[in-house]
Amino acid sequence: MFDLPKDVLFNLERLSKACDVNKNGAKFYSKLSESYRNQDFKELDFSQAIAYALGRMPATYSVIKYVLEKFKNTRESFSNILDVGAGVGALKIALKDCEVAYTALEKSETMRKVFRILNGENTTIYSEDFHKFRNKNRYQVVFASYFINEIENKKATLRKIFELAEQYVFILEPGTPNGYKNILEAKNLAANIGWYPFLPCATQNCNLNSKDWCHFSIRLPRTKYHANLKNATLPYEDEKFCYIIFSKKKTEFFCNNTIIKRPIKKSGHVIFDVCTNNGIQRIVRTDKASKKFNWGDSL
Ligand SMILES: C[S@@+](CC[C@H](N)C(=O)[O-])C[C@H]1O[C@@H](n2cnc3c(N)ncnc32)[C@H](O)[C@@H]1O
Repeated sequence: MFDLPKDVLFNLERLSKACDVNKNGAKFYSKLSESYRNQDFKELDFSQAIAYALGRMPATYSVIKYVLEKFKNTRESFSNILDVGAGVGALKIALKDCEVAYTALEKSETMRKVFRILNGENTTIYSEDFHKFRNKNRYQVVFASYFINEIENKKATLRKIFELAEQYVFILEPGTPNGYKNILEAKNLAANIGWYPFLPCATQNCNLNSKDWCHFSIRLPRTKYHANLKNATLPYEDEKFCYIIFSKKKTEFFCNNTIIKRPIKKSGHVIFDVCTNNGIQRIVRTDKASKKFNWGDSL
């Protein structure tokens, strides 16, 4: 589990009071969820932007932390990053202890306002629509979390993301068939313009059944106001997500053997579905250590 830092939780609590979460938060959040369900992404008003920070950002923050950890385990690194569709700054918070020059791009005024409340005034945030962004700078990393899902003209957007990046592109999406479709679209485009899948894929040609979708799951703690907002009783929630990291450098496919489904634990053996250099393979292991591996781990 990845907990939000204490100062951010403190600021979120202040915001929860500002929008009177107990009384109105659930109403704001259910409106927000409805627009996500209907793929109807209107400009959020300030209360909805707060509801996003309280209700969705703990999950996007956890997913971002998870993906950054996976990247860190490869011993690769970067020193500057552009966060497109930065929202209220989940990535900025996740990079808090890293020496990385962070730049955001976020078109929504209310999301930028909440971003500043949570992260202070010192961050460069381009306030443009990504479609109109004409910056000549390039960034070692371009990072797009939960962004492609809600943007029109996905192909042109993805192309622009790759054009702005020098070394790595990170795409994180909801763990749904649609989210995975966006990952595949990015993967196809990348193959045509000289970028390589780096994580979690170990091969360009995925042999996953076309009705299936490659996704992962992370458990995150729910604070009291987080639960109130969602009318939830459990003290945690499971967030499903898809991700892919591309590299400009032609690496031999990183043989990370990612476990792409929840392992099936039987008495005496464990069944794993694993992404290998030769496509997805079912591996059965009987050793004691195999019990410790989880969905998303490298076998
Ligand atoms: C679901 S939020 C994700 C926020 C953040 N990346 C996260 O993971 O929590 C998507 C964000 O993209 C922004 N966005 C959508 N279309 C955009 C565009 N054309 N240009 C810039 N930002 C955009 C929205 O305003 C919203 O803040």
